[in-house]
Amino acid sequence: MARFDKLVFSGVQPTGNLHLGNYLGAIRNFVALQADYDCIYCVVDMHAITQSVDVWGGPAELARATREVAAAYIACGIDPKKHIVFNQSRVPEHAELAWVFNCVARIGWLNRMTQFKEKAGKDRENASIGLYDYPVLMAADILVYRATHVPVGDDQKQHLELSRDIAQKFNNDFAADIARLGHADGFFPLPEPLILGPATRVMSLRDGTKKMSKSDPSDYSRINLSDDADAIAQKVRKARTDPEPLPGEVEGLAARPEADNLVGIFAALEGAEKSAVLKTFGGGQFSTFKAALVDLAVAKLGPIGAEMKRLQADPGYIDSVLADGGARARALAAKTMDDVKDIVGFLR
Ligand code: TYM
Repeated sequence: MARFDKLVFSGVQPTGNLHLGNYLGAIRNFVALQADYDCIYCVVDMHAITQSVDVWGGPAELARATREVAAAYIACGIDPKKHIVFNQSRVPEHAELAWVFNCVARIGWLNRMTQFKEKAGKDRENASIGLYDYPVLMAADILVYRATHVPVGDDQKQHLELSRDIAQKFNNDFAADIARLGHADGFFPLPEPLILGPATRVMSLRDGTKKMSKSDPSDYSRINLSDDADAIAQKVRKARTDPEPLPGEVEGLAARPEADNLVGIFAALEGAEKSAVLKTFGGGQFSTFKAALVDLAVAKLGPIGAEMKRLQADPGYIDSVLADGGARARALAAKTMDDVKDIVGFLR
C-alpha cells in the first residue's frame, strides 16, 4: 500500500445529539490521529437526509446540527487549519463519484447491509433509496480522496468492507484503463478501518444490549456532548445496573452488559484498561463507582461542552471554517474525479 499516501478520512452525521458513543468511538480517535496523518473530517449532511424529514428535522435543524458537529470537532481538538473540516454537500464530487460507484456496486452486496435493515425496520418498501444507497455514498466519501485509513466505531465495520469491495471491483473492472493512465496497480486504495480504544461500541445507559444512539427516544439512554454537569450526573445515577457488586476481574463482566458498559466508559474516559478500573472499584457498590464516573465524565466532557457552546455562539466563524475546508477538499476531490472520468471514458 506504499503507493498511496497515508490519508485519514472520516465523517459524522448531523442528526440529533452528538453523544458519548460518537466521542469515544470516533471523534476522540480523530483527534489523536492528527499527529501522524493528514486528516479530512467531514460533516456528512447528505447522509443525514437519507431518513424522513421528521427524523432529521428539516432545513433549520440540519444547518444547526451541521454547525454543532463542526463545533464538536473543533472543541474536541481537531485543528481545522492543519487538517480539513467541511460539510459534505459543499463538494459535489462525493455525489458524482457515488453515481459511478452505483454502477460498480452490486445489489446483492447492499442487500447484506445490516444497518439498512435496522434503520428501515419493518416498513422497508417505504425507506428512501438514499438510505439503501447510503454505504455507496460512504465509499465515495472516502475514495474521492483516495483515503487509506478510516477511524470509526465498531458499527461501521461492514460499511468499510463494502468500500473495500467497491474499490477492488473498480480497480479490476478498469484495470487496463487504469494502467494506461500510469497507475501501475490499482487506482483506489483499499481503505482500512481504524476501530480503536476500549469503547468502540458504547451501549445505551438504559439497556446494555442496545447501542447508544442519537435516535433513541429516551434522552436518559445517552450522555450528549452538550449535556451540563447536572444532566451528566442525573443520567449516570439513573443508569441501569444489576444488584451484584462490581467484579474484581474483567471476566466477571461477561453476561453483565450494563456493568460492562459503565466500566468500559470509565476506562475510555480515563485512558485506562478495564482491569485497572476494576482493581479500584471491584467488590464495591455501584453507587461509589457511579459517583466517581460522574466526576470523571464531568471533568472530561464539561470543557468540551463549554467550548462547543462558545463556538456555536459564533456561527460566522464555523461557517468560515467549513467554507475554507470545503474549498481545500474540493480541489483534492476534483483531481480524483478527473482521473475517474478519464478511466471510465467520460469526455471532459
Ligand atoms: P454516525 O454519525 O452515525 O456516527 C459517527 C461515528 O460515531 C460512531 N458511533 C459509535 N461508536 C461507539 N459507540 C456507539 N454507540 C456509537 N455510535 C456511533 C460511528 O461508528 C461513527 O464512526 N456512516 C457514518 C458516517 C459516515 C462516514 C463516512 C464515516 C459517512 N461517510 C465515511 C467514515 C467514512 C456514521 O455512522 O455516522
